[in-house]
Amino acid sequence: MMYFFPRRTSWTYRSIRMKLQSLPQHFCKHCVRGYRVLLENEWMRYCFLFVCLCSVCYLLFGWIISRDSCFEWEIRTSLCNDYQNGLVAGSLCYNLCIEKSVPLSSCINRDDQFSMFRWSNILFKALNPDKHKLLEVSNPVWDGMSKADFISLLEKHFAQLLGNKDHSYLILRAFEFADFNRNNELTYAEARSMWELLQIQEFQILFIFQDNTVFPQLNSTCGSMFGYETAYQQILYNKNQSTYLESIFPNSYQWSLPDFPRRAHIALGLLEYIFATMETDNTKFYMCDFSPQNFGYNQYYEMKVTKFDGIVSETVLNKTMSTKTCEKDSDCVYGDICHSTCNLVTGKCNSIDEMYTPDFIKVCHVLQDYLLYDMPIKVKYLLSHLVADCIRMGNKMSTKTRETIAVDQNIIHDRLNEILWNELKYADNKFLTRPTKKPPVLI
Ligand SMILES: *[C@@H]1O[C@H](CO)[C@@H](O)[C@H](O)[C@H]1NC(C)=O
Ligand SMILES: *[C@@H]1O[C@H](CO)[C@@H](O)[C@H](O)[C@H]1NC(C)=O
Ligand SMILES: *[C@@H]1O[C@H](CO)[C@@H](O)[C@H](O)[C@H]1NC(C)=O
Repeated sequence: MMYFFPRRTSWTYRSIRMKLQSLPQHFCKHCVRGYRVLLENEWMRYCFLFVCLCSVCYLLFGWIISRDSCFEWEIRTSLCNDYQNGLVAGSLCYNLCIEKSVPLSSCINRDDQFSMFRWSNILFKALNPDKHKLLEVSNPVWDGMSKADFISLLEKHFAQLLGNKDHSYLILRAFEFADFNRNNELTYAEARSMWELLQIQEFQILFIFQDNTVFPQLNSTCGSMFGYETAYQQILYNKNQSTYLESIFPNSYQWSLPDFPRRAHIALGLLEYIFATMETDNTKFYMCDFSPQNFGYNQYYEMKVTKFDGIVSETVLNKTMSTKTCEKDSDCVYGDICHSTCNLVTGKCNSIDEMYTPDFIKVCHVLQDYLLYDMPIKVKYLLSHLVADCIRMGNKMSTKTRETIAVDQNIIHDRLNEILWNELKYADNKFLTRPTKKPPVLI
């Protein structure tokens, strides 16, 4: 009995295995038979061949598309052809086209405007071919254009973007930036590339705020493609993750945030952002898609704006609004949150007005979520009161004039700045010091 039992199991096991083994054989037999019947008919033979060809094409096509979902090949070929023909220039062109040391192979995203590539910590944005063609045909730069003509072109462009004020500093910077070979003269390719870059809204913002540390540094360009440093952390926090955890603990998004001194340092960057956008190049800027997800920070906990396509100057905002036709107030919207009222007499939108909640108040809301928890006792009282005052100010906007709001805002801004800096002075803040090069050892 003891010996019988395992034998019986091995018998059943073997019979099952044989049945299983014969299954593919049966299947193949049917296949081959069906195949023969099929090919006996000549018409069917052609049909079969056609289906085979189609599937191979389909697979091949799908493979090519999935490999080059970002038009990588098209973008590089067109840029490098233009570079070799003296139509585009840029600090990246040599590396991209001759040295081939910058691979555009790591496509990370594509939207309807840009293809985005990542190379080490640089994010490159290249206009998609159709968008680039549009820009090319409207390029007013001609071969042999004088320096004065190009400058007057820039003047007109910056006046449209930032209003009729003095933009000579910006023009000088644009001129220097465009002079990629540093010979104090602009070639046709250099002028043409700079003009194209300055038509791209994201590049405009990056360029205008290049002196400001809260905006990412531009790394290099070639034609209308530009690259800038990406932040180490792309968002400050996301309150809306709608997970189970979130519904039980509404503040769970705070658990993974950095400790207080680091958050204080990042908050200083937010205040710096407000200061910069209140007036740069004689113009005020609005973030029309304000969200804590538009801000991030680098490895030294310096705040960096990570999304700037919603930032717009007051001039452009007023102009866009005044050309919009409307029937009701809800027609007068720019981006997600910049809205004005409808002038029912003219059927056009009014310019942005006191109804708009200043970005400063929105930053205070972010500070409330991001900064005001797990903080040292000695600043707790002061900070929470200041932020609460700021938020209260936002609720009473309609009862105040633009001037009093600006004054109140400045006071709160300076107080917050002062408290946070004082706190950082005494905290353990090794993270603030960037690594410096080791001094050479003298023997
Ligand atoms: C651009 O990025 C590369 C790679 O990180 C770096 O080597 C280069 O110095 C950067 N150039 C500028 C102008 O920042
Ligand atoms: C987050 O959720 C709130 C309330 O549900 C909603 O009003 C808001 O638009 C959401 N924000 C984002 C960025 O999804
Ligand atoms: C935009 O419109 C507002 C409200 O009329 C006005 O106060 C402001 O000066 C305008 N700004 C620009 C740059 O035209």
